[in-house]
Amino acid sequence: MIEIMEARFDEKVDLNIKIEYRKCISDLTQNEMVRSLEEFTHHRNFTRLQHCLHVSYLSYLICRKLGLDSQSAARGGLLHDFYFYDSHAVKPDRGNHYFCHPSIALENAARVFTLNEVEKDIIVKHMWPVTKSPPKYKESYVVMMMDKYCAAGEVAKYGSGRARSRQNLLDLLPQSAVNL
Ligand SMILES: [Fe+2]
Ligand SMILES: [Fe+2]
Repeated sequence: MIEIMEARFDEKVDLNIKIEYRKCISDLTQNEMVRSLEEFTHHRNFTRLQHCLHVSYLSYLICRKLGLDSQSAARGGLLHDFYFYDSHAVKPDRGNHYFCHPSIALENAARVFTLNEVEKDIIVKHMWPVTKSPPKYKESYVVMMMDKYCAAGEVAKYGSGRARSRQNLLDLLPQSAVNL
């Protein structure tokens, strides 16, 4: 587990695993709405798309290692913050952003993509324990933890590392999405 966390986005991860990962998310990364997440600053120097890719990729690696549903983890992780407002400037109609954005993200994602039960749970439970009901699946726990891990890393450690992170993330995207 620690090895995976330390590998993050660098070359320690086998190329075939990166290719497998790309295949899992290729329809999502070619979607205009997913790509528009690049327009929103999420944590300091990182966009919402970068954050979602960080969470998705690490969750995929961990679930793959544990023999869990890594495809659902990759897809749910990529869509976990699928909302389209600046949370620093806009207050959602339905209340506090931290409580309500998981359900907004799930509604948005379900309108655009066909989601399985694990993916739905991943998206709507990713803020637990801030939100009340706990995750139902192991994959949801993985994504929930990776969301916090990546958020902390993006805010604290990698504030000046955007260029490196961006290049590494681009390596994960299908060729057609590389011009993000
Ligand atoms: Fe979130
Ligand atoms: Fe997040």
